[in-house]
Amino acid sequence: MQADTTSFVLLWQVAASLARLAALGQLGWMKPSRPRRAVLYVPASNEKALAKATTLACDAVIIDLEDAVAPVAKEEARERMRAFLREVDRSGREWIVRINQLSGEGGTEDFLAARGAVPDAILLPKVNGPADIRIAEEALEQTDAPERLALWAMVETPRGMIELPALAADSRRPFARLACLVAGTNDLVKETGLKPGPGRANLVPWLLQMVLAARAGGLDVLDGVSNDFRDLDAFSAECRQGAELGFDGKTLIHPAQIEAALSTFSPSPEEVAEAETIVATFAAPGNAEKGVIQIDGRMVERLHLAQAERLLARSKGRNKA
Ligand code: COA
Ligand code: MG
Repeated sequence: MQADTTSFVLLWQVAASLARLAALGQLGWMKPSRPRRAVLYVPASNEKALAKATTLACDAVIIDLEDAVAPVAKEEARERMRAFLREVDRSGREWIVRINQLSGEGGTEDFLAARGAVPDAILLPKVNGPADIRIAEEALEQTDAPERLALWAMVETPRGMIELPALAADSRRPFARLACLVAGTNDLVKETGLKPGPGRANLVPWLLQMVLAARAGGLDVLDGVSNDFRDLDAFSAECRQGAELGFDGKTLIHPAQIEAALSTFSPSPEEVAEAETIVATFAAPGNAEKGVIQIDGRMVERLHLAQAERLLARSKGRNKA
């Protein structure tokens, strides 16, 4: 009798946990998709650029407290970020704050200021593995940070590259806050001595590892910046390369780069139409229970449905002209 009751309680607990996980999945909690095609860095110390960012068409803005801010300007930049996020209308795009390394100078102050400002995400620089994410996550839990406050991670150190598989595995935990990887190509080049070569040929193997890790971890992944903001032809080519490698978008340093990134990382009208057909066909009466269907003589499986739904969620009505 006693054994029966214990088994029942255990079974009940397992069923409740599974139902909770399933509900989280259905609510889209696990990996909500937002368009992150054009993501612009703005130094927190630059008041004029911060004001301008509110008028630009980028999908997200990263307010930078790290590399773009001189050591003497750090404190003022932190205050400016705080005041700016208090006042700004946040609708229409994501706002992310990049802090200095938690273990380095000013990192804790940055983290607390960013936590207080509740941006959409805090971007951690020079992430060397899952432990760095866990420390930040723990600090967010201890301060009762809302669930929607995500973490993003810069992949820009040799150690961070080596630890990518562990980072991906760790981000599959329920309630993990890590949502997006950001390629820090300038730092990677500096740290390794690699010469990127024409068309970034020598960087491509590392970029692909980032994309692979992001997919394994259910994360978004953004390509690194292009420093030459006057050569827009070269920039467009680099955007196309990033899109072909599988990146969701590109990080930018200048407003002139926004348009090319938006258009390159948006699905074409044909891709949107195809995705809509797949979604509509699976939803048609009689197909709801099917695992595989045919559309115009082509086999379409549920994995294509998931892909189509992801594409539509990201296109947000803004497609390639
Ligand atoms: N975000 C918002 N606005 C920006 C901007 C940015 N990243 N970069 C430039 N602008 C604005 C300028 O304020 C200027 O505004 P205005 O038309 O109202 O006068 C306009 O765009 C044209 O700028 P421009 O004169 O061409 O460039 P600049 O000399 O002002 O700035 C940089 C050049 C590189 C210093 C600047 O683009 C920058 O700081 N970029 C971000 C660097 C960064 O964050 N790096 C860290 C990550 S790698
Ligand atoms: Mg860096």
